[in-house]
Amino acid sequence: MTWWRDAVLYHVYVRSFADADGDGVGDLPGVRARLDHLGALGVDAIWLSPTSVSPDADHGYDVSDYRHVQPALGGDAALDQLIAAAHARGLRVLLDLVPNHTSVEHPWFVDARGGRGSRHRDWYVWAHGRDGGPPNNWISDFRERGSPRSAWTLDPRSGEWCLTSFLPLQVDLNWRSPAVRAEFLDILAAWFRRGADGVRIDVAHKLVVDAGLRDNPPLAPGDDPVSRARGQRQVMNAERPELHDILRSWRRLADSLTPPRLLLGETYVGDVARLAPFHGADDELHLALNVPFLRSELTAPALRRVVDATLAALPAGAWPLWCASSHDDGRFPSRWCGGDERLVRCALLILLTLRGTPLLYYGDEIGMTDVEVAAGRRRDRAGGRDGCRTPMQWEPAPGGGFTRPGVEPWLPLGDCVRTNVRDQGRDPRSILTLCRDLIAERRRSEGLRRGGMAWLPSPEGVLAWRRGERHAVAVNLSAGAADVAGARGRVRVGTDRGRDGEEVGGTLRLPGQSGVLIELG
Ligand code: NOJ
Repeated sequence: MTWWRDAVLYHVYVRSFADADGDGVGDLPGVRARLDHLGALGVDAIWLSPTSVSPDADHGYDVSDYRHVQPALGGDAALDQLIAAAHARGLRVLLDLVPNHTSVEHPWFVDARGGRGSRHRDWYVWAHGRDGGPPNNWISDFRERGSPRSAWTLDPRSGEWCLTSFLPLQVDLNWRSPAVRAEFLDILAAWFRRGADGVRIDVAHKLVVDAGLRDNPPLAPGDDPVSRARGQRQVMNAERPELHDILRSWRRLADSLTPPRLLLGETYVGDVARLAPFHGADDELHLALNVPFLRSELTAPALRRVVDATLAALPAGAWPLWCASSHDDGRFPSRWCGGDERLVRCALLILLTLRGTPLLYYGDEIGMTDVEVAAGRRRDRAGGRDGCRTPMQWEPAPGGGFTRPGVEPWLPLGDCVRTNVRDQGRDPRSILTLCRDLIAERRRSEGLRRGGMAWLPSPEGVLAWRRGERHAVAVNLSAGAADVAGARGRVRVGTDRGRDGEEVGGTLRLPGQSGVLIELG
């Protein structure tokens, strides 16, 4: 059973979704209290950002205990209650596994740092420096005040350098160690026993590094944008062939359970052709993050190129994942649409009708945009990601329905008067209603979930495609009106809701920045 192929997934950034205990930070009881919203939206599964115990240097992506839940989020009982409440509604729950690195506060690292003879020393990646500097030229994925930083941190006690691919407070595990592998298999099994329906795997592309710690080569002409942003080809500390063994072992575990569990990988690579290996022979990841799609432009040729490349690249048995916003890359209503509501509607129509599994980020369903966060309120030590992590905008009220009135949320609220769940939920023409209706269409039509996808001829600036036997989608991303020929049927859902139910007889006129989902026939 591959339920995720039929599903719409939804990423809850827990700290920012709903604050039940009034400390200004979202928590698991808060998510539980808002399950009605997710039920009404019609999503099938939520991915919770990391819930394990963490000193929060990177808001949960620096774990100090994988076996227990962060007390500030509600602790173990709160996670169990949330999973039970979600399951009671038929909503599945994915947990965020962070296997590439731990916090420096994890007892494994505290022990490892004790010296070369310590039991957990080889659970981390240590090396001698070179010419008075770090062991090689690898750079961290996080810049330091805008400049590249070495991926290595000197351990003054032993004089050795320790690999820290993100913050210096996040220490990379040594995935060549059989003990690390065994430990994580056990953690994963425990999470599945606890009720997790799957995991999102953080930094799945980086788990293993080159055994000889060789330098990364310099950029070459034509390198992808992710490599260009890093300033080097990450071939020695990412996408190593050895990591596939690990993914295969997790897949064996996931597949051995009833029902089978989902493995969704954060595969942060800049070229869709390089996603294919992460699926293996249908024995590794089920779904892989598609960064080139996420970072595409919202234009017809750019999207068509990346969708075609994705569908062509994925091996038999693999299935695409489409997402456009994330807690790392910003919200699509800002990045893709510049806040233009017509384009937000078009983007949602595209995300929810391409062949594959859509992954929404909390707030996408109301068109939430990135928020300008003043320097004094920033919380992201890696810099730059606070604006897309601000609290969910539930109500036009003090605290935004996120936290109690008078409590300062951990990040500032956006404009809750203009954009909020309560008002949009009551408005049949809102973005939220559009999103709900599109998800409902997917639910009622197998063709929209599983059917094939074929482009239809369309004028410049327009994307048009057929889904399954009974549906077509046409989206005009350009500013001027355009005519699309060939589709006959009835508009099921238009981004301009005034078009719902309209007969389409041959030629469809689409005003600029609008689109329709048509039932053919
Ligand atoms: C990817 C996560 O999405 C990001 O938020 C985090 O900072 C890094 N991995 C490091 O864990």
